[in-house]
Amino acid sequence: MTKMSTPEIITESRDGTLLIRIHRPDRKNALTVAMYTGLTAALDAATQNLDIRAVVLTGSGDSFTSGNDIADFLANPPGGDESPVFQFLAALRQFPKPLIAAVNGVAVGIGVTLLLHCDLVYVRAGATLALPFVNLGLCPEAGSSLLLPRLIGYPRAAELLLLGEPFSAEQALEWGLINGLCADAEATLELALTKARRLAGLPATAVQLSKALLKRTEAEVVRETIAVESRHFIELLDSPEAAAALQAFANRRRVG
Ligand code: COA
Repeated sequence: MTKMSTPEIITESRDGTLLIRIHRPDRKNALTVAMYTGLTAALDAATQNLDIRAVVLTGSGDSFTSGNDIADFLANPPGGDESPVFQFLAALRQFPKPLIAAVNGVAVGIGVTLLLHCDLVYVRAGATLALPFVNLGLCPEAGSSLLLPRLIGYPRAAELLLLGEPFSAEQALEWGLINGLCADAEATLELALTKARRLAGLPATAVQLSKALLKRTEAEVVRETIAVESRHFIELLDSPEAAAALQAFANRRRVG
């Protein structure tokens, strides 16, 4: 097991695969600036390492990730393309090898939007997902304003992104947002690792070229959408509505 630049991002390589685990269970694996930097470093290292053929991303404890750490959002708001969260999104968007998510529990915000960039997504049955950007006075990010309606249709995407209502893993499967459900967190990770090992055993160039071809027609529009969303997101983060909603969560009052 290798520790990256932050103890909250743990990586482990085996059989041609890299497992990246978000490890901050007491905060539902909420992501700080340091953790985004750690995730980017892990993806970059996986890109460079010829022995790594596939990557699995999972969480610790009962959560996948509750999204951006709200206190960290207030303390270290992203300021531009160089911000760790946007660097992470760039690394995710361009990651050339198969990326598989093992969603072991609740996923919120970027914990859901990052799934739109994974090649395979397996989720623990009964897990809850949510995209409460509007509820927090914010707007969609990570290309979700483009990718979500493309994937599940505009009506459903509008419900999820405008109302921010939580939805279940079962609904996500029915809508074609994810690949499959597993009975528990252990089975979810095991299935993701099995798929990763299978991919690692296939001809590497063919796998990577096929991924690039699958993403080809949308690569540029995804890049451009993320850039537009990011500009608005940064502006909104500075608004009184977002400040009040984020502060309310930080103070443990009801948000949304
Ligand atoms: N940022 C900062 N802290 C967070 C967090 C986040 N995104 N998500 C959870 N935490 C903290 C909680 O404040 C709580 O801290 P405390 O023990 O000091 O009170 C701890 O993690 C456990 O979370 P809790 O809310 O008690 O767990 P839960 O099982 O009842 O609910 C969630 C889990 C994920 C549904 C809930 O924590 C939540 O809605 N989090 C915010 C998600 C969010 O809005 N993310 C930002 C999207 S842009």
